[in-house]
This record gives sequence, C-alpha cells and structure tokens, in this order.
Amino acid sequence: MIKISNLKKTFIKDDNKIDVLKGLDLEIDRGESLAILGVSGAGKSTLLHILGALDHPTSGTLTYNDVNVFNWNEKKLAEFRNKKIGFVFQSHHLMPEFNSMENTMMPALINGISKQDARKRAEIILNEVGLGDRVTHKPGELSGGEQQRVAVARALIMEPEIILADEPTGNLDRSTGKKVEDILVNLNRTRNITLVVVTHNRQLADRMSRVTGLRDGKIYMEVQG
Ligand SMILES: Nc1ncnc2c1ncn2[C@@H]1O[C@H](COP(=O)(O)OP(=O)(O)OP(=O)(O)O)[C@@H](O)[C@H]1O
Ligand SMILES: [Mg+2]
Repeated sequence: MIKISNLKKTFIKDDNKIDVLKGLDLEIDRGESLAILGVSGAGKSTLLHILGALDHPTSGTLTYNDVNVFNWNEKKLAEFRNKKIGFVFQSHHLMPEFNSMENTMMPALINGISKQDARKRAEIILNEVGLGDRVTHKPGELSGGEQQRVAVARALIMEPEIILADEPTGNLDRSTGKKVEDILVNLNRTRNITLVVVTHNRQLADRMSRVTGLRDGKIYMEVQG
C-alpha cells in the first residue's frame, strides 16, 4: 500500500544542516498495524508528517498504491490527506471554541459533505468511541482521555484508509491511555484500517502486528508479532 524508498529529510537551521532521515526504506501493507519506536529526536514525527503528506522529503520516494505521491500538486495532496488519512497527534489540536460534535464534523464539512450528513456520521462515531453523552462538551469541559477520543473520532469521520498516530496516548494515564489504544487497535482489526503508531511506549508498540525502530535516520529492526 505504501512504499518508501531512500527517503531523506534534512532541516537547515541557522546554517546548520540536520540530517534527520538518511535513506530510509519502509513498506506498509494494507490492513497492518505498525509501530515505529525511537528515542526523542530520532525523527519519528518527521517521518509521520511525510507519510501523511504534511511535509515533503528532501529526496526519495513515497508511493501510495504505486503512485508517487510527491509528484502531485498541493491541491491533490490536500485531497489525498483529507480523504485517505486520519491523523491523531499527542496534542490533539481540537478547536477550543467548538464542542465534540462540531470538532468531529469539521473535516467532513471542509470536504463539502452536507451539515446533515456530517452530523449523522459524527453521531455514530462519537458513540463508537464512547462519547455519546459528551457531544455538546467543549474540549475544556472534557478529560484528557475524552479529548483524545474526540481527536480519534475526528480522524475517522472521512473513513480513512490509514490512521497515523503520533504518541496518541502520551499525555494520558495508563488506564485512560489503554482505552484510546483499544479504540485504535479495534479499528484496525474490525475495519481493516491501516494503523501506524509512532511512540516511545513499548507496551503500546507490542500491541501492533509489526514493531520497527527508527535510529540514525533509518528503520533498523523489524519484529514480527
Ligand atoms: N522544522 C524543523 N527545523 C529544524 N529542525 C527540526 C525541525 N523539525 C524537527 N527538527 C529536528 O529534527 C529532529 C527530529 O525531530 P522529530 O520531531 O521528528 O523527532 P521525534 O522522534 O518525533 O522526537 P519526540 O519523540 O521527542 O517527539 C530533532 O532533532 C529536531 O530538533
Ligand atoms: Mg515526535
């Protein structure tokens, strides 16, 4: 489904070159769940941003169903991001002035789906993540775990083929984190949504079907679960 070849990413900051990804290769199959472990600064978020076409690599290729994504123009890239990919980040980036329902509906509205349909979809998904009784709460009126579940709901509303999660449970206590993990793992299993999770958390990683690590700008280990 996704094939990354010889991917390099260099940041230039104050005349310093920072080589973060140094010729990285990785293949991700449809329906698999993949963990990418690595220490702080290893380049996990950088890789995830490129996987989600939020950032361009310095060189190398990323194909999605055999099509080279970075040959597309910005408009096509944005469409790809919105329709195919669901993002779940450590800081959830919910909009504070909007409630759970509105935050969840947002990507659908941006994609031109009618308000009525967006609301229907959001209702179903918020129920799925156990927030059926929190739809009118704004982020400030939700617990951290509930906010994170709204972020998962928002990532799902466009029915993505792939979910990219960056430390999705990093800010949560063990048991709340586990609830969010369960939702992600179940989505992968029951709806065959490809799941890529970058994390420091070994326990979360071990719940994925494959565990890889990122070190010195490359994927260095593959453990089959
Ligand atoms: N826009 C940028 N400009 C310059 N350097 C950057 C930029 N973004 C990231 N970096 C550097 O690239 C390296 C990798 O950053 P990245 O965010 O991918 O790490 P990470 O593995 O996600 O770490 P963490 O676990 O702490 O989130 C870091 O050393 C960071 O300082
Ligand atoms: Mg990071």
